[in-house]
Formats: sequence, C-alpha cells, structure tokens
Amino acid sequence: MALPPVSKAFPDTPQTSGLMAPCRFEGEVRNLEIVGSIPKGIDGTFYRVMPDPQFPAFIGDDPWFNGDGNVAAFCITDGEAHFKQKFVRTEKFTREREAHRALLGKYRNRFTDAVSFKVRSTANTNIVYFRDKLLACKEDSPPYAMNPMTLETLGLYDFDGQLPSCTFTAHPKLDPVTKEFVCFGYEARGDGTPDVCYFSFNLEGKLVENVSMVAPICAMIHDFAVTENWVIFPIIPQTCELERMKAGGEHWQWDPELPFYLGVLPRRGAKGSDVKWFTAPNSFPGHGANAYENEKGEVVFDLAISNKNVFFWWPDKDGNAPNPQEIVNKLTRFTFDPKADKLDLPTPEVLLEDDMEFSKIDDRFLMRKHDHIFFDVMRHQYTDFPAVGPKMGGGAPIYNSLGHLTVSTGSYEIYNPGSTHLVQEPIFIPRSAEEGDGWLMALVNNLEVGYSELHLVDTKNFSKAQAIIKLPVRLRPGLHGNWVGSDELAGSI
Ligand SMILES: [Fe+2]
Repeated sequence: MALPPVSKAFPDTPQTSGLMAPCRFEGEVRNLEIVGSIPKGIDGTFYRVMPDPQFPAFIGDDPWFNGDGNVAAFCITDGEAHFKQKFVRTEKFTREREAHRALLGKYRNRFTDAVSFKVRSTANTNIVYFRDKLLACKEDSPPYAMNPMTLETLGLYDFDGQLPSCTFTAHPKLDPVTKEFVCFGYEARGDGTPDVCYFSFNLEGKLVENVSMVAPICAMIHDFAVTENWVIFPIIPQTCELERMKAGGEHWQWDPELPFYLGVLPRRGAKGSDVKWFTAPNSFPGHGANAYENEKGEVVFDLAISNKNVFFWWPDKDGNAPNPQEIVNKLTRFTFDPKADKLDLPTPEVLLEDDMEFSKIDDRFLMRKHDHIFFDVMRHQYTDFPAVGPKMGGGAPIYNSLGHLTVSTGSYEIYNPGSTHLVQEPIFIPRSAEEGDGWLMALVNNLEVGYSELHLVDTKNFSKAQAIIKLPVRLRPGLHGNWVGSDELAGSI
C-alpha cells in the first residue's frame, strides 16, 4: 500500500513557525556561558522534555503535543553548567528515522497511521527519575526508560512485568516520606475505555497498590493528586469515542454539558467500588500544585482551573472553541470532606486572579501541607508584543514571568525576565530544610536573540536572576521537567 504523501518541510503554521519551529538538535555543549554566578552548593541535573517533531506530519494541523520527545539534561555542578540533549528512541521515532518520513497519523488515533505500530508513544510529556532510571512519559502508553547519565534509551519500561495498565500517567508522584512511586493509567484497557487503574511501587520497585475503577465517562485525566490517605483524579471534559476515531476523527472532543468530575479513592487497600466521583460545574482542571489533609481530615487541593476549554484545538461537537487569548487559568483551592455523602463539591476559593499554570511546590512537602507555590504567570503588560508577537508562533501556552505565592501570608512575588522573554515550567532546588528556601530554575526563550536561556532565581531574592545560563541553541516550548540532586543520581547506571 502506498504511504500518504508528505512534505520535506514543516508547514508555515503557528505550531511549527517562530518560537514553535522544531528544534531537532541532539548533542552536548560543555561549560555554558554564565552571566552572574551559580552557587557552588547547587549540585544536580535539571531534566526536561519537549515535543519536537523529527519529521513534518502527513496529516493537517498536527498539534504541538504530537511531536517526538526530545530530552534535555542540564548538569549543574561546581558553579558550572553543561547541556546534553537526545531524542527518546521510541518505536515511532526509530521507524520514522528508518523510513526518512512521518508514519504516525493523528494525535492518539491509530486508525490514521501509515503503518501499524505496537506502541504509539511520543514520550514527550514528562521525564521522571525513579530508582536508577529516567522515565520518559506520555499518558497513552507505558514509559520509555533512559540512562540518566547518557540519555540513551533503554526501551519500553513495564516495571519488570508488573505494570497493571496499558497506559501510564505523565504525572507519577514520588512520596517524599515513604518513597512510594504513586501512579495511574486511564483508558487503562485501551482506546475509548472508561477504566482507570491506580497503582504504586515501593522503593524496591515492587507493586504494592493496584486498583481498577470505572470512571463515569471516558475522558482525559492528565494530572492527579495524592495525600497521605487519598488519591484524587480530576477529569477534563474532553471525551473519547472509539467510533469517531475509527472514522478518522479526533481522539478528544470538548463537552460543555459535562460536569467537572473529581474521583476520590482511599490510597491504601481500596477496591474499585470505593471510588467516589464528586462533581463541580463544567470547567477545565489543569495541573495540580499539591493536595493534603487539613486538621479536620478534609482534602485541600490546589490546582489551575479554567472556565474555558484550554485545549481549544479540540473543539466541541459543533466546532465551538474559545479564542486562545481569552483562556485564563486561575490558581484555585478545593477544600472538601472525602467521606461526604453529598457529591457536589463546595465552591472553591480562587487563590490568585492572575493567569497562571505549571505550578511546582518544594517536592519535600508533596502530599503534606504546603505553604509555598511557584508557577508561570502571564502579565500581558510585561511583554513587548509589537517586537516579539510575530516571532511567537502559536499553539502552546504562553507565560512571561515566574510567580511565588505564600498562601498563609498572601505574599505574592513575581520575577519577570524581560519584555522579549517567555518562561517555561520552573523546577525548585532546595537550599535548607525550610520549605521553599532555595532557587527556581526555568528555561526562558529570549525572542529578541532567538536563543534559549536558563534563569536561576533565589526564592529569598525573587526580583532578579542570580544567574542566566546561555544556550547556543533555541529550544522549543516543552512540557515538564524535574530536578534530580547528584546525591540521588549517585546510584544510577
Ligand atoms: Fe502535564
């Protein structure tokens, strides 16, 4: 059968032009330029992954999310910074490289592929360290394992045959106290299934929790939250229908009639029937900051919420989608009794009015009470749009500043790197045992010069960067990353 025709050049669409033009760089640069200074106490590696298509797609309007996972490692040690980047060798990447062209079709629609794949993962969403491996995650598949030192792909990873779901979240969470790796998969029995599988592994890599549940709808569950005793699954009202996929349509379709469902399951020893599906008015739950239990035993869950369809490129059944400029995510706090019989969630509290996303806390407090939240913020007045607007491309979220909220005091600080700069998800590097004392590091795109930079900001002196680390290349907007201290990496392959 003839393969569908494909171009040798990326199309002049927002998602593959300007800042969004594919990077496709693999390699290593030692001793990056540093303006300012990196404290000698910082010793570890910032891993991040970006969707970065190896080849132009053969389907129209391929979304940014469908690019191949390209993983960067920024090794920070002894006041120096070194950079390495390599694509994950997924089945898709390897077969397309052999064929010299794209073979994968629409986002998460195997019925549109040019060839039959065993695994369609692009491994492009998060890069997480567990035991001695990096796991490159895409929520439609098991993760790919990588060597954290060389970034060589080790292969598809099934946790030594124990993975109980055919999918694996891009947002697994490591319990900083018990060292348990808490995970889930949705569409756990394949495309279009409403099954959700919750599971966890202990530090020895043994499966310790494994619960199968059925959600009220088959829809996207991107991030989740964990407390000491509960696991929380926010469902995005983007639904999947197998028949639509078979007809060559999209995997996802926005449904403005659905409520926002929040699944709540006991974390230990649960059965699938123990899950409760709480509801709130239709909205789009974005990334969580953290969840914990307060002194009354209530769950406190902080996350980004929008009242519009953030994934505007997957509209509703009538083709309606919001204007991207009108989409705002607000940091929102739900406080509720997980044992309540009444399944309507209480009205949440909006912690901030600013448009924000990609929050991080000091990971040592994950699943316990936190007070400091760091995130990306968009303040339109800070950006010189006439200068950089034509260089931005489109189709990815745009933020221009980093924010630091101290919830107990309401203190809110902003770091803005400049009028021609856009920021990506920060990571937190601890300095002392005090929550939030340390540094934020984030990849920043300087659109004036066209290159990327890492900005290091002291959380106790948030107005200016302590160091700007310059890259000789432009990296594309990415999704997620994590900081791994050298002490944790010491036992790696
Ligand atoms: Fe995510």
